[in-house]
Amino acid sequence: MKITVLGSGGWGTALALLLLENGHDVTLWSYQEAESANLREKRENPVLKGVPLPEELKLTADMNCVRGCGALVIATPSFAVRGTAAQVRGLLDPGAVLVSVSKGVEKDTSLTLTDVIAQEVGEAHPVVGLSGPSHAEEVGRGVPTAVVAASKDRAAAELVQDLFMSRRFRVYTTDDVVGVELGAALKNIIALCAGVCDGLGYGDNTKAALMTRGLTEIARLGEAMGGRKETFAGLAGLGDLIVTCTSMHSRNRRCGILIGQGAAPAEAVREIGMVVEGYYAAANAKNLADKLGVEMPIAQAAYQVLYENKDPRAVIAELMTRKKKHESEESWV
Ligand SMILES: NC(=O)c1ccc[n+]([C@@H]2O[C@H](COP(=O)([O-])OP(=O)(O)OC[C@H]3O[C@@H](n4cnc5c(N)ncnc54)[C@H](O)[C@@H]3O)[C@@H](O)[C@H]2O)c1
Repeated sequence: MKITVLGSGGWGTALALLLLENGHDVTLWSYQEAESANLREKRENPVLKGVPLPEELKLTADMNCVRGCGALVIATPSFAVRGTAAQVRGLLDPGAVLVSVSKGVEKDTSLTLTDVIAQEVGEAHPVVGLSGPSHAEEVGRGVPTAVVAASKDRAAAELVQDLFMSRRFRVYTTDDVVGVELGAALKNIIALCAGVCDGLGYGDNTKAALMTRGLTEIARLGEAMGGRKETFAGLAGLGDLIVTCTSMHSRNRRCGILIGQGAAPAEAVREIGMVVEGYYAAANAKNLADKLGVEMPIAQAAYQVLYENKDPRAVIAELMTRKKKHESEESWV
């Protein structure tokens, strides 16, 4: 199939290589001509060092490349998803499937990214979210990875499963789009917090507690928004949480480490240099939690550190001394 991947960051590039390996006719589109020219010249993406870009991979910054494609993969940072989808609107072939692989929630609307894309391209085009524990650096070097393709349109989810699936990339399907997308977006907050704990010199106990309680509150918000509880125990929930909270590939975790070591949040985000989705997701989670009346103490604490200059140690002390609770809300009811 003719496929364009929109966004030539680490993730777009790793997925373009995977699709090429699966025998598709693949174009990798860059936001800026200079970025595309650099890829054409070096045949390597600077964020995926040592991974060559074969000659068969087409590289361009001309959006006309999406004409005639059966599938489009949107792999820009979350803030650029709406603008990118709007640009392709008049160029799509009838029935072309859109695949969202970005992780986030739209800042002003709190919409999931598949909803943002659907708003821009219209209902004639199925939209699928692809997510799970998948660092670009590792997919780029071909290590076994498993993800989930989520769509209300079963045929579209199964098409995406077929396009991406290979001996090294296993794809499951689900219809719980909200669950998958919220798991993907919100775990970045917890990864940032895990980094803060590492930067403060706290240990494995602290991180395990943070991950477990973090997942509980992600699932609580997810369920309030229509997601299914079991999705948060799956690849896009627990799976992605484990990978981002424990790996140095995670820029959210690396950003948190800098904050834990004393950097101001905005300075830490700048130093990472690439998009730190957890920074924006913390503001979105706070808005959503307030709007829906959902208790999300860790996301609230992250918001205070990131946007209100509160000291991480003080915020963690407050989390530890909240009023006593049962572990499960269903206990003894
Ligand atoms: N890197 C990973 O391992 C990974 C894995 C899964 C999902 N994701 C998600 O994929 C998305 C992209 O991540 P990445 O790691 O490839 O990012 P990146 O920081 O490596 O690259 C971002 C790309 O987006 C482009 N861009 C910047 N501003 C733009 C705009 N206004 N319009 C269109 N394009 C623009 C940049 O030119 C760059 O090529 C993020 O939402 C991320 O959470 C990343």
